[in-house]
Amino acid sequence: MKSVKNIRCFIRSVQTHTSAGQSLKSLDEVPSLSSYPLIGHSYLFFPGGKYKAERLTEAVANLSKTLGPIFKLKLGGIDLLITTNADHTETLFRNEGKFPIRPSFLALSHYRKKNFNSIGIVPGNGEEWYRFRNAILPLLKTKVVNSYLDRHESVADTFVEYIKRNINHDLVLNDLFSHLLKFTIEAISVVSPGYRFNCLSEEQKQTTNIIKASIDFMDGLYSTLMGPPIWKIYKTSGYLKLESSHNVIYQILKDHLSNTKKLYEENKTLLKKENPFLFELFENKNLQWEDIIMLMMETFLGGIDATATTAALTLHYLSHNIDIQNTAREESTSENPQYPFLRACIKETLRLLPTAGANSRFLIHDTQIGDYLIPKGILVSAFSSVTSQSEKYFNEPLKYNPHRWLRSSKEAMHPFASLPFGYGPRMCPGKRLAEQEIVILLKKILQSFKLVSTQPPEIGMVYRMNRIPDRSINIKFVNTNC
Ligand code: HEM
Repeated sequence: MKSVKNIRCFIRSVQTHTSAGQSLKSLDEVPSLSSYPLIGHSYLFFPGGKYKAERLTEAVANLSKTLGPIFKLKLGGIDLLITTNADHTETLFRNEGKFPIRPSFLALSHYRKKNFNSIGIVPGNGEEWYRFRNAILPLLKTKVVNSYLDRHESVADTFVEYIKRNINHDLVLNDLFSHLLKFTIEAISVVSPGYRFNCLSEEQKQTTNIIKASIDFMDGLYSTLMGPPIWKIYKTSGYLKLESSHNVIYQILKDHLSNTKKLYEENKTLLKKENPFLFELFENKNLQWEDIIMLMMETFLGGIDATATTAALTLHYLSHNIDIQNTAREESTSENPQYPFLRACIKETLRLLPTAGANSRFLIHDTQIGDYLIPKGILVSAFSSVTSQSEKYFNEPLKYNPHRWLRSSKEAMHPFASLPFGYGPRMCPGKRLAEQEIVILLKKILQSFKLVSTQPPEIGMVYRMNRIPDRSINIKFVNTNC
C-alpha cells in the first residue's frame, strides 16, 4: 500500500507536461499585474484604487477578463493564486488530502490557546484541527439534525408571529436580514448551547448583545486575518474586537452549557434524545471541558450570519419571481417532507449570491493546475462566487431558476462550479442544520404570506467575514387569506 502511495507521489513530482505533451509552465509564468515592493498588489484596493476590498468578487471577475481564468496577486505579503475555472477548483479539492490546510486565523488561535488552552475547529489546521473536526461530525448526520426539527418548526412559527407584530402599516418588514439574525440565533441556540433563547418573542438586551458581539467577532476575525500580524506586539483594534466579542459570547453561553451538562449527568437518555449533538460531545473522551465550550461556541457563531443572509436573499428572490413563489408555496402545503423545490430555491440563492466568495487551500504538494505546475505551499483561492455566475457553467446564469437543481432537470452543471458550503473534509459541518432551518422557515412563511417586492431586483454582496447583502431587503408580507 505504502509503495503504491510512494509511486503516486513520484509520478506527481515528475509530471512536467500537459496531457497534450507541452511542458508545464511555472508559477512565475502565471499572469499577474505589476506589483510594488512591500505592498505587492494591495494598492489595487487602497482608497481611490481601482477596486474595493469589500467587492473582492467583482474585482476578481474583472481581473480574470484581462488576465485569464488563472492569475496571481501578492496580498498581505503572500502570493495568492486565484482561479475562476471550475476544473481547477476540482483539482484543488481532489488534492487537498486528509488534513486540508486553510489560511489560519492566527489571532483567534493565539487568544484561545492563551485563555482556554484549546483552539476549536475554525482557526486550526493539521492534526489539531482533525481532533476537533471528528468530534463535530455528528452534526452532519440526518438523524441528529432531524431531532431538532420540532423545535425548528416552533422557532419558525414564532418568526411568523414576529412578522405579524413587526410589519409597518404598509405590511412591510424593513431590513429583513437584521430580523433574521434573531431567528438564526434562536434556531441555533436549541442545538448549541441546548437552551432556547427567546430572541423573537421578547425584547432582550441579551439578543442585542449577541448580535453586536457576533458582528464584532466576524469583523475582528476578518481584520486580523487581512492585516499584518502586529497584534502579536500590541493589541490592535481588530484584535481587541475579537477578544471582547469572544468574551461576551463566552459569558452568555457557558452557564447554559453547564446546565445542559448537568442534564447529561442526571439523565443521559433524555439528553441523547433531546440534544444528540451535545450528548456526543459530552461522551467524547478526547475532549476536555474547554474543548467542548470552544466547539459549542463555533457551532453557535457559525450558525448565525450565513444562515440569516441565505434566508433573507431567498425571500428576496421569491418576492421578485411570482411563479417560483407560487410553486414553492404549493410545495409548502404538501406532505412531502423532503421539500425538493424549497431546497432547490436555497441552492439557487447560494449559486447566485454565496456567502463565501472563495474556497481556499494551501497546496500540500506540487500540483498541476491547468497548464501550470504550482509548487507546494502556495495558497490557491477558487472563486466559486465567480464560477457560479458564469455562462460557461450555467444556462442563463443571472436568472433565478431553482428548477435547474431538480432531478428532472436536463441542465448539465459542473459539480465544482457552485460550492457554497465548501467541499471535502473541511466542508461546512452546519450544512444540513442550516438547510433544515431555512426550509422550515420558508415553508411557514409561504403558508402564511404572499411575498411582494418593494424594491428593484438588483442586489449584491459586501465582504464582512462572510459576505452579506449590500443593502437592506424590505419585503411586503400579505396574509395569504387576503
Ligand atoms: C447557509 C448557511 C451556511 C453557509 C453558506 C456556510 C458556509 C461555509 C463554508 C463555505 C465553509 C468553509 C468550507 C470549506 O473550507 O470547505 C464553512 C465552514 C464552517 N461552517 Fe458553515 N455555513 C453555513 C452555516 C453554518 C452553520 C449553521 C454552522 C453551525 C453548525 C456552521 C459552522 C461552520 C464551521 C464550524 C466551519 C469550519 C469547518 C472547518 O474548518 O472544518 N456553518 N461554512
